[in-house]
Amino acid sequence: MERTQLLELANKYGSPLYVYDTDKIETQYKRLTGAFNSVDNLKLNYAVKALSNVNILKFLTNLGAGLDTVSIQEVQLSLTTGIDPKNIIYTPNGVSLQEIEEVAKLGVQINIDNLSILESFGQKHPEIPVCVRINPHIMAGGNSKISVGHIDSKFGISIHQVPHIQRVVENTGMNINGIHMHTGSDILDIDTFLRASEILFDVAKQFKNIDFIDFGSGFKVPYKEGDISTDIEQLGLQLSERFNDFCTEYGKEITLMFEPGKFLVSEAGSFLAKVNVVKQTTSTVFAHVDSGFNHLVRPMMYDSYHHITNISNPSGKDRYYSVVGYICETDTFASNRRISEISEEDVLCFHNAGAYCFSMASNYNSRYIPAEVMIVDGKDYLIRKRQTMQDILQNQVVVDFAPKSKTKKEKVTA
Ligand SMILES: Cc1ncc(COP(=O)(O)O)c(C=O)c1O
Repeated sequence: MERTQLLELANKYGSPLYVYDTDKIETQYKRLTGAFNSVDNLKLNYAVKALSNVNILKFLTNLGAGLDTVSIQEVQLSLTTGIDPKNIIYTPNGVSLQEIEEVAKLGVQINIDNLSILESFGQKHPEIPVCVRINPHIMAGGNSKISVGHIDSKFGISIHQVPHIQRVVENTGMNINGIHMHTGSDILDIDTFLRASEILFDVAKQFKNIDFIDFGSGFKVPYKEGDISTDIEQLGLQLSERFNDFCTEYGKEITLMFEPGKFLVSEAGSFLAKVNVVKQTTSTVFAHVDSGFNHLVRPMMYDSYHHITNISNPSGKDRYYSVVGYICETDTFASNRRISEISEEDVLCFHNAGAYCFSMASNYNSRYIPAEVMIVDGKDYLIRKRQTMQDILQNQVVVDFAPKSKTKKEKVTA
């Protein structure tokens, strides 16, 4: 997005502000579909949790995407876009049987990631086909918190327990129609995908009625200039060929699925925050912005890197800053970062703010959750208003409790 346009938006809507560029989302969507264009049946289910504003969901479903959800609330949110429930997959982790049953009633594809719920669900609803999430025991992902396919992870059913899945199928008469994995986020090496895919092909072969294999996601995007990212085109070439061979062996044209979050929306997002204070200490220059980890938690939570530019003064002399927030707790966005000279009231832009940024925002310190703006064909649309005190108070119940009556002793000493 153009620096001047971002600056205008910060002036128009105030700060802090999230801005999403739908051109970038579309480019990424087309890049991924293009990479797999030799596969007849390809389905990309956008991971709603990355950025769940309904306008973004609608934009992606209009492009042809399905939606990947992890909670009944995400399913309900997705349905408000008018999407056919068949184009939603629900991949929860550790939720109750009751929630899964409620989602199944909505006509959404269910994906189950543990044996006990699989068995209970199969006993009660053998007529509803389900997908199973397999844990391929592969260490993949940018850091330990986002590596979810290894042997100690809480996600998925171990590949060593496939015979148990088969026993459940035999005992209940249920049908497994899909095989799924998701091994982590920020996976750079395409060999990791290809290795895990072989494991899934092997599992899929053991089931007779598979309609799709869902390879999850985890594609790494660049976070700064010169940064490396997953080679999607190469992955597309290699995995498509292998997938097409699998379909021939299996004797059926099944669907290849992915559920990308970051790849589609990370680079499309910019987070704009204004500098309240520039504080020089004996060792550091702090730039305090009008935000904190309440609005963008990734640096504090995962040590994630967000490139930061001073859009008010792009051609100033570079200086070293620690960019911090206004939360009464350590909330460091960047330490000793070279940024064009910052003055109070300058607007800083945090890049790659589309995925897992707004969707993880909170009201910590009773601060308002920021507004969101979406750019479509160069035009800006407010897609979420900034909160007000009414939002903070909305579900709080003010009770009229009587003050504790004083004991005799307290009355005497008072
Ligand atoms: C099951 C599942 N699918 C898809 C995704 C999206 O991953 P990414 O944002 O790396 O594309 C996630 C993210 O954690 C996930 O847990």
